[in-house]
Amino acid sequence: MGKKAIVTGGSRGIGTAIVKTLAADGFQVAFSYLSNKEKADLLVEEITSQGGSAAAFQADTSNFESASAFVTKAREFLTDVDLLVNNAGITRDKSLFIMQQSDWDQVINTNLTGYFNVTRNLIGYFFKNKRGCIINITSVSGLVGINGQTNYCASKAGIIGFTRALAKEAAKLSIPVNCVAPGYVDTEMTRSMPEKHLEEIKNMIPMRRMGTAQEIADLVSFLASDKARYITGQVFTIDGGLTA
Ligand SMILES: NC(=O)c1ccc[n+]([C@@H]2O[C@H](COP(=O)([O-])OP(=O)(O)OC[C@H]3O[C@@H](n4cnc5c(N)ncnc54)[C@H](O)[C@@H]3O)[C@@H](O)[C@H]2O)c1
Repeated sequence: MGKKAIVTGGSRGIGTAIVKTLAADGFQVAFSYLSNKEKADLLVEEITSQGGSAAAFQADTSNFESASAFVTKAREFLTDVDLLVNNAGITRDKSLFIMQQSDWDQVINTNLTGYFNVTRNLIGYFFKNKRGCIINITSVSGLVGINGQTNYCASKAGIIGFTRALAKEAAKLSIPVNCVAPGYVDTEMTRSMPEKHLEEIKNMIPMRRMGTAQEIADLVSFLASDKARYITGQVFTIDGGLTA
């Protein structure tokens, strides 16, 4: 029987590429979407029409109860779970001196606490089954400081600490827990930046282009495969040489 995966924030961007790639790898996939039901339904239809199996569930993963309800529904659909990909994330970029408490709270609650909320609701199941795999999407912003991103950098660095500590707890059960840290990737998140800023970013990247969501999904696909079973507690940067 094929493997089964839960993915958060699957209705667009990197999350959609991860859902499609895992489905192509033979995973049955349950993914969450925050608000765009139409896009989520289209993705389910696309995967189903290609012979795969997927289901979408509305959830605000920054809220513990909502994350818990999502995991319950995902488990009912999948009956078994082999993989969790925490991907849902937001930015609220601005200099600290004008950053509102709400900018700080929304980013920490979604990017960091959201990963706790979903993982906490699944980890007991993984531990009991002595099987599972967790991949957390962080960012190069968790490794280096970026102007205007004190909230985002703190959340993404927090994910790295969370991943490393959980990897130690899960290693005795051979459950790998790793991070993928993308640089700049062409998605709606980055498309909202001013054109001039995007050009400056491309010029900073040694490969002179942004990454694609598919390139991130391909790395996730490898880490989710048996080929990566001895890798745990690591951060895989994928950034066209930005942090080389
Ligand atoms: N795009 C980049 O350049 C880039 C770089 C590094 C890391 N990342 C990370 O990759 C992940 C995906 O980013 P993306 O570029 O695809 O962004 P995106 O904005 O296109 O998609 C983010 C997804 O997260 C979901 N989401 C946001 N808040 C949520 C909440 N409270 N509950 C549930 N879902 C929620 C959205 O609905 C959406 O599906 C994020 O964690 C982001 O921080 C992105």
